[in-house]
Amino acid sequence: MKQKSRNNSISIMRPYYSKKVIQHFLNPKHFGKMKNADGVGKVGNPRCGDEMWLYIKVGRKKDREIIKDIKFHTLGCAAAISTSDMISDMAKGKTFEDALKIGYKNISDELGNLPPVKIHCAQLAQQGLKAAIEDYRKKKQ
Ligand code: FES
Repeated sequence: MKQKSRNNSISIMRPYYSKKVIQHFLNPKHFGKMKNADGVGKVGNPRCGDEMWLYIKVGRKKDREIIKDIKFHTLGCAAAISTSDMISDMAKGKTFEDALKIGYKNISDELGNLPPVKIHCAQLAQQGLKAAIEDYRKKKQ
């Protein structure tokens, strides 16, 4: 029964979303809240009402700070959840400098292209990561 409803969800979402968007939506690897996060970015889009929290744990590689772990908690559409998970995948293990280079277009490309009306979901994920890094830097001062 559970498998049947899952298959129905997938067929409703296709062909609107790519296979990869659906996979990240149904099985996000980084979903959840992080206790004792070093930085938290909270962003939202007032037009659609979606909200994202991006949590980062900071570590060191040689003498540089890196995003050691990352999680997200998103209340929103399938694309918002997929893009949150994708940016988490892309940013994990990276220096802040490299993580901040991840643009919404990169996220969309990695997901096999988002529908144009869903590009703002990737922009929100990009803003969420930036806000988490800024939050960490502010706390550190
Ligand atoms: S519809 Fe607004 S973030 Fe997805």
